[in-house]
Amino acid sequence: MFLTLPVLLSLVLSITKCSVYAASDTKVQALKDYKNPIISGFSPDPSCIHVDEQFFCVTSSFSAFPGIPVYTSRDLVQWEQIVAQAQRWDILCHVNAGHHWKAVRGLVAIGEHPIRFTFTGYDTSLFWDDDGKVYVQGSHYWRIFPAVQQFQIDLKTGASLNGDPVTIWNGTGGMAPEGPHIYKKDGFYYLLIAEGGTALGPMVTMARATNIHGPYDPCPYNPVLTNANTTEYLQTVGHADLFEDSNSNWWSVALATRNATVDFPMGRETILVPVVWHDGEFPVFNRGTPGRAYIDMNGPLPARKSAGNVTKWLSVRPTLLTSGDVHVGQHQRIQFNPGSKLPRKLIYYRYPDFSAFTVSPPSHPNTLRIMGSANNISGTSSDLTGTSTFIARRQDEVEFTASVSLDFEPRVDGEEAGLTLFLNKVQHFDLGVVALNGTQRFIRLRTITANSTDGGSVDPISSPRMIILPQKSNHLRLVVQAVNASTYMFGYSDQGNGVVHTVGYG
Ligand SMILES: *[C@@H]1O[C@H](CO)[C@@H](O)[C@H](O)[C@H]1NC(C)=O
Ligand SMILES: *[C@@H]1O[C@H](CO)[C@@H](O)[C@H](O)[C@H]1NC(C)=O
Ligand SMILES: *[C@@H]1O[C@H](CO)[C@@H](O)[C@H](O)[C@H]1NC(C)=O
Ligand SMILES: *[C@@H]1O[C@H](CO)[C@@H](O)[C@H](O)[C@H]1NC(C)=O
Ligand SMILES: *[C@@H]1O[C@H](CO)[C@@H](O)[C@H](O)[C@H]1NC(C)=O
Ligand SMILES: *[C@@H]1O[C@H](CO)[C@@H](O)[C@H](O)[C@H]1NC(C)=O
Ligand SMILES: *[C@@H]1O[C@H](CO)[C@@H](O)[C@H](O)[C@H]1NC(C)=O
Ligand SMILES: *[C@@H]1O[C@H](CO)[C@@H](O)[C@H](O)[C@H]1NC(C)=O
Repeated sequence: MFLTLPVLLSLVLSITKCSVYAASDTKVQALKDYKNPIISGFSPDPSCIHVDEQFFCVTSSFSAFPGIPVYTSRDLVQWEQIVAQAQRWDILCHVNAGHHWKAVRGLVAIGEHPIRFTFTGYDTSLFWDDDGKVYVQGSHYWRIFPAVQQFQIDLKTGASLNGDPVTIWNGTGGMAPEGPHIYKKDGFYYLLIAEGGTALGPMVTMARATNIHGPYDPCPYNPVLTNANTTEYLQTVGHADLFEDSNSNWWSVALATRNATVDFPMGRETILVPVVWHDGEFPVFNRGTPGRAYIDMNGPLPARKSAGNVTKWLSVRPTLLTSGDVHVGQHQRIQFNPGSKLPRKLIYYRYPDFSAFTVSPPSHPNTLRIMGSANNISGTSSDLTGTSTFIARRQDEVEFTASVSLDFEPRVDGEEAGLTLFLNKVQHFDLGVVALNGTQRFIRLRTITANSTDGGSVDPISSPRMIILPQKSNHLRLVVQAVNASTYMFGYSDQGNGVVHTVGYG
């Protein structure tokens, strides 16, 4: 599997928006309709703030790089990823004390001087109290014992100022109390957490105290937000955060999955729920106790801004942005023009070796040259590196077509390059051009799952397949199309004639 030759790619990712839900025409007072998810595609565990007229959200990223992407929006509807490409992976989980980012609550470090702190658990969050003291809340690892814990942090050193973390709430008895955030309002410290695990049970619960250290009294109508035990299209609603906009409207973001099939192909996405939070009371999510989350929503979204003679939803273009980047869920065609940078929306698996990518090399302008690797994308990794050279885009629409033009001539047995539809290292579809049995070239679709056999060429559900390629067809376009919410078609065409030959289904 060692690639001796460069692979030349030019990516054409056409995302065709096809919504299965009709827009609602009902407009109640100043409420505006919008659709969930607001940040579609793999974007779990959202945490958001607003700074002046602009909203910022971060989400978890697991093995994807750049870690903890930052998204921005002015209308809460259109979002753009603004995280810097060269973000160092070793500072991702540390804390920056900069005022501007404080309410991101410890999930992101943009500053130059990250500090390190110790907490035995996960989902740590920062809370700045009015007296200048700063606290870290986090989830103790629930398999050892479930608890939400807290300590006061010294932001210069990362040290705890009050000894070992103290349990402040155990939740309402749901599995794995986690994802805590604290908000101070009307003399109370409100603690919001997630409970119920990661399967179909997630819920959002709250408690409050008059002292940061507790005791925390649970909300009388917990859970405050959940779709558990319903047959709603959005499931697993949980891991939420609360923020207020500049019109004093409260909102919650949470993760949710779409139950288009039993396989949740879109992963965990970020949804938005309007919240009403009266003085001295617990908040009410989407007008219900418990609040429910839907695809079709309405709420008091920020007002439209007019730009010259055009009235439109203005989305901010921070100076970090380069042209060519698109909003979440938008069609994207990447040309790799000479002198251009790799678009920020593209993601990598584990920690990438950027020297393997060359935009528009002199010999092949308007392409991306990718140097192959001896590693594969199914392998385990102990040091966060060790994978095939990999560049990708999140699937952020249920139905889409993505294609890539590939100029690749494998010369050694097992050399392979192509397109993968990737969930994780043990679950992916690979459509590759590969040399086998000497110089014979094939186009091969493999299904890597726990149940596939024979190197992914046999699978009980999908239809992997291999086709002998004509001798002279170096310029191929590989295509993957989500024909509906449960089926992907994999195909190829000889560049130029446009006819897509189906290789198989997944
Ligand atoms: C949490 O549960 C543990 C173990 O049952 C118990 O010792 C502790 O008092 C509880 N803490 C709170 C704050 O409820
Ligand atoms: C859902 O139903 C299960 C089983 O009855 C129950 O244990 C759980 O608490 C319910 N969850 C919610 C959020 O109502
Ligand atoms: C998810 O969708 C599948 C297929 O329609 C259905 O069988 C299942 O009951 C749904 N699950 C939930 C939790 O609604
Ligand atoms: C809006 O302004 C642009 C540039 O200022 C102009 O080209 C265009 O014709 C205007 N459109 C209308 C509808 O007035
Ligand atoms: C992928 O790499 C791992 C080593 O990390 C190896 O065990 C495995 O056989 C490789 N898989 C394929 C399909 O080559
Ligand atoms: C490669 O050659 C072997 C031995 O001749 C044969 O069994 C196998 O089917 C061939 N593989 C392919 C992909 O043609
Ligand atoms: C995969 O295999 C597991 C264990 O052998 C089995 O329980 C499961 O039903 C299989 N899934 C599919 C989709 O065939
Ligand atoms: C999706 O498309 C495939 C292939 O055309 C078809 O077999 C399957 O029945 C479709 N599924 C749904 C839910 O429409």
